[in-house]
Amino acid sequence: MHDNDYILGTHAEELRRLGLQHTVWREHARDAWTSAGFRKGQTIADICCGPGYASLDLAEIVGPLGSVVAIDRSESFLSALNTRAHADGLQNIQTVNCDFNVQQMPNIMLDNAWARWAFAFMQHPRDVLEQVVNRLRIGGKLVVHEYFCWETWRTVPRCRPVEEFGYRFIANWRLDGGEPNIALDILEWLPSLGCTVVSMRQFVRFAQPHIELWQWPKTFVFVGVDRLTDLGKMSADEAEIVKEAWLKLEANPNAYIVTPGLLEIIAEKQAP
Ligand SMILES: C[S@@+](CC[C@H](N)C(=O)[O-])C[C@H]1O[C@@H](n2cnc3c(N)ncnc32)[C@H](O)[C@@H]1O
Repeated sequence: MHDNDYILGTHAEELRRLGLQHTVWREHARDAWTSAGFRKGQTIADICCGPGYASLDLAEIVGPLGSVVAIDRSESFLSALNTRAHADGLQNIQTVNCDFNVQQMPNIMLDNAWARWAFAFMQHPRDVLEQVVNRLRIGGKLVVHEYFCWETWRTVPRCRPVEEFGYRFIANWRLDGGEPNIALDILEWLPSLGCTVVSMRQFVRFAQPHIELWQWPKTFVFVGVDRLTDLGKMSADEAEIVKEAWLKLEANPNAYIVTPGLLEIIAEKQAP
């Protein structure tokens, strides 16, 4: 795997997949930011921002007097974000190239922080969580969207190749040094880092082929299968079986895919 790649890659297909992913989760993210009091004039970090779909929304919320610090290790994702920000005339996004596995987060004072599908890919997530908390002002909020139970991934009717592909994918994710169900660890670590959990919401969504949400797990399966094949962790024949099984499932208007269980955590930094 390339140095600053991650388990799903940083190629154009993954960039598009992350855009679709943001579209189907955007409303939930926005609700969380509102609950946490994200507002104009603040400095907010987007931890592992990817191509910055959320950073662009956050830039709108903080306005020209605020600032979004968008941090990721992928140069190509950060460059996609810079291009978009430039095209939209946004000057309040600062992109920072940082590989949390080997580098410290820049020393900036934050009002709030946002992390979605971020800690799950890191090799030392507790250390990074501590760095984020240390940079928050007292009373600052950390909003996290991470999986707590990836294993809710199921299909109706049961489709073994698709379900098994999901489990195979998360096994490789763990081999790569990450932990898909990191939300449970984050919940455990927050009190010892001086944070109080102020709210939690959980999301396990059921998608049917005719709704937009269906496209999210579909692109995960198609991008993920190709990725495991490229990494030599799946044969081309096995990949074909999974794709065909998905298309058969999709042709059934009564089919469902159950998405992996996601946990929203809003935590507040306490005075020492
Ligand atoms: C699933 S994407 C999520 C992107 C974004 N948070 C979102 O919700 O759209 C995971 C991101 O984590 C980044 N990443 C993975 N490991 C990292 C590390 N050690 N340091 C910095 N970024 C990392 C990847 O480059 C990728 O952009």
